[in-house]
Amino acid sequence: MDHYKLFIDGEFVDAAGGATFQSIDPGTGKPFATVAKAGKADAEAAVAAARRAFDSGVWSGLTPVERAVKVNAFADQVAQLTLRMAVVEAMDSGQIIRLSKVWGRQGSGLLRNFAHYAARRFPWEEEIPYAGNVFSPGRDYIRREPIGVCVGIIPWNFPISMAFWKIGHAIVMGNTVVLKPASATPLGALIIAEAAKAAGIPKGVINVLPGPGGELGDVLCTHPAVDKIAFTGSTEVGRDIMKMAADSVKKVTLELGGKSANIICPDADIDLAVEGALFGTFFHQGQVCESGTRVLVAAEIHDQFLEKMKRRAEGLRIGYQLDPTTHQGPLASSSQLATVEDYVRIGREAGAQLVTGGERAVVKGHEEGYFYKPTIFAGVGNDMRIAREEIFGPVVCVIKYDSEEEAIQIANDSIYGLAGGVFSRSTRRAENIARQIRTGTMWINNYHSFGDFCPFGGYKQSGFGRELGHEGLAEYTQVKRVHVSAVADHKANFTMKMFSDDPTLPFVQYSTPTMVLAGHGCLASVAREVVRLRGRRAMVMTDAGVRNAGLFDYVREALGDFYAGVFDRIPQDSDLETVDAATDAARALGADIIVSVGGGSVIDTAKAVCVTLKNGGRADDHISLQRLIEPQTPHIVIPTTAGTGSEVTNTAVIKSGQAGRKVYIVENFMVPNTAILDPLFTLTLPPHLTVTTAMDAMTHAVEALTSIKSNPICDGHALNAVRLIADHLPRVIENGQDEQSRLNLQIAATTAGWAFNISQVGLAHAMAHTLGWLAKVPHGSACGIALPAVMRFNADHATEKLALVARSMGVNIVDLKGRDAALAAAEAVEALMKRCGHPMRLRDVGVAEDLLPTAALHAIADAPAMFNARPVGDPALVEQLFKEIY
Ligand SMILES: NC(=O)c1ccc[n+]([C@@H]2O[C@H](COP(=O)([O-])OP(=O)(O)OC[C@H]3O[C@@H](n4cnc5c(N)ncnc54)[C@H](O)[C@@H]3O)[C@@H](O)[C@H]2O)c1
Repeated sequence: MDHYKLFIDGEFVDAAGGATFQSIDPGTGKPFATVAKAGKADAEAAVAAARRAFDSGVWSGLTPVERAVKVNAFADQVAQLTLRMAVVEAMDSGQIIRLSKVWGRQGSGLLRNFAHYAARRFPWEEEIPYAGNVFSPGRDYIRREPIGVCVGIIPWNFPISMAFWKIGHAIVMGNTVVLKPASATPLGALIIAEAAKAAGIPKGVINVLPGPGGELGDVLCTHPAVDKIAFTGSTEVGRDIMKMAADSVKKVTLELGGKSANIICPDADIDLAVEGALFGTFFHQGQVCESGTRVLVAAEIHDQFLEKMKRRAEGLRIGYQLDPTTHQGPLASSSQLATVEDYVRIGREAGAQLVTGGERAVVKGHEEGYFYKPTIFAGVGNDMRIAREEIFGPVVCVIKYDSEEEAIQIANDSIYGLAGGVFSRSTRRAENIARQIRTGTMWINNYHSFGDFCPFGGYKQSGFGRELGHEGLAEYTQVKRVHVSAVADHKANFTMKMFSDDPTLPFVQYSTPTMVLAGHGCLASVAREVVRLRGRRAMVMTDAGVRNAGLFDYVREALGDFYAGVFDRIPQDSDLETVDAATDAARALGADIIVSVGGGSVIDTAKAVCVTLKNGGRADDHISLQRLIEPQTPHIVIPTTAGTGSEVTNTAVIKSGQAGRKVYIVENFMVPNTAILDPLFTLTLPPHLTVTTAMDAMTHAVEALTSIKSNPICDGHALNAVRLIADHLPRVIENGQDEQSRLNLQIAATTAGWAFNISQVGLAHAMAHTLGWLAKVPHGSACGIALPAVMRFNADHATEKLALVARSMGVNIVDLKGRDAALAAAEAVEALMKRCGHPMRLRDVGVAEDLLPTAALHAIADAPAMFNARPVGDPALVEQLFKEIY
């Protein structure tokens, strides 16, 4: 009798205690080999060897390509052992030789496929291009790293195949492994170990421990040096393993039992379906976890199907497994034979109709073998034990169904969800059924088909985790996120600021992708810009006010043949529904570029349309902060107010009914491509809109300057805007046709936009957004009314910056001390507003007083409030501010 030894740390050794056991050939019932029986000490030694090997980096430290070279050599050694594997596997497990002869080829192929995928395709390192975060700029990526020491515990039905799976996944991904074969079938894994040794896989990377499941399992599943357990076997043992692994929180993947349904549709090719059901159940004597042991047959074809299946089952040749003509070999062990006999009795007692089989088979010359006849029960109720419990033998339950819904319901009525089949001539119908079954694998017009790149594993109590394919290999890695901060300065780290009383953020991030064209007559460049941006069909977006002022007509004429259509139903402070309607219009027109003509409401709507048009879906799908990673639908903006600066910012502010507030899209790839500042477009702006929109720009400038994110680039833009507005707003109010001053206000709005884009602005904006939502106050008016009060609120926190505002507005601050100069700035803003006819109080713009407490709460939660010079956290203070301006 051959004697096999344990494989620990690269050597074949006897068990420390010298124990051995015999391996039985289930076709003869007689022992044919002796095996060293591992105990606790051997398990400890194997884990220690695997740990040493892993920690030394001799394997985990190789590149995947270097490992692949060694794994390919291993695969070649496996191929050389094909014949021995075939014979030993057949005698050890009872597999027929027609089956066991495939493992050498399959195993070496699997190793090569895995190694190739790990070396060439697996994403070991992956950039995360979506920031999704506006506060921690930097590079983010993930590394996938080996887990460590992996324990594989495998069953007795496919000893060699399972050993290849457990060893293959673990080692190609850089781990080391301790494999525990089933005690009844230990030999195949030891032959694989011989191949590994011959191929020079470093010692300790693979260890094989034949022996009793209970004793070895206890050590392996609780050992602190073990990082992962992959178990294939029964659901009962899987539960125990999970519990054992819990104490030291090991990663566990479980591939457990099944009671899979094979659904035969009325339109199935009947011969194919019969073969599918037969093979799906009696393959390897039914000792297969994913077997289709519940065959659900449509009532229309039930009798015919059953008759054919009975005939085929009775025709299967039962014989010794090494006889090349045998279809059905023995069951793997005497205890499994006893289990099958027990379940057949249970089925009969429950009233199921025994169609064929139901007894042992006698094979001449092998009378001691564990042979059992293929057994079919019909008239089975899905509530019978034979339909609910895994039998793991050649016993199939045929269940009749009347409708597809009923078949799906029966299929899903199981604690298991490992696999299943559908037989139908209609792929559409079969796929529709497959979608509705809660199970890990569905075969259509096939059964038991596996592929090295196709994941396998269970739903429900059939386990979790996958083996094979990308998913299977990924289970043998862990994910590490690496963040490399773009700002290596604690003062500029927004999140660390939580522990600091210094609110400033001295980090400059400035990008101005917008082409700005400013000057009388520059509208003429719109067609050239369309071409430059590779557009052919421009949809103009505007609103009724702008259209009535005749401004749309200019644009249509200037666009010439590039004009595709117009969407003009944009309300003030636009909403998501408007974005959706405009996107639908653009889709219907086949527009590939957007030209927006209007104030902030139009521009922001158009920005959101560009994103929705490019990415599909509805506007609500695209409320996002920095997750776009490519250019959006091109966008040319022609601003028509004195205002928002939105033509150069990365922000769109849109009302969402569902969110109950204004929501933001903040995306650098949404910044418009071109801004055309032609005074022709603001000549028609009535005085009250001129002053309120100019005060929006003024608010941008002042708040940008005082924001905790301000910096000299921002400040330069902001102060330029403050000066231009202070100088030119009164002139425009005096003479609306003063083109030069109109243009300067437009430029002021744009530079204030750049400043605001850097600084993300402050409390006045938060208050204005809230009032816009709650009380429908136009944004510019609300900004203006709030601004002087917020400047005073910030006087001690942005003293010098506010003094600069005063100076830019022409206030003589030479004799004023810090705080007084800051307050003078607020006075100057107020004076400008009064002079130009801006509303000064909230009551003047129709806000109800009882709204103020709610408005205060919303304002402190609004994003711009985070950047205010003076920290904003106390709603009472903000409510006080609202009251002051009421
Ligand atoms: N995304 C950003 O960077 C940003 C910045 C600030 C404000 N906003 C948003 O912009 C919106 C406010 O924009 P707005 O203040 O420009 O107002 P608006 O776009 O709502 O326009 C106000 C009114 O002015 C009319 N109008 C505009 N130009 C005209 C012209 N030349 N002649 C005659 N009538 C004209 C419009 O028809 C409209 O009725 C708010 O929703 C605000 O949240 C966005």
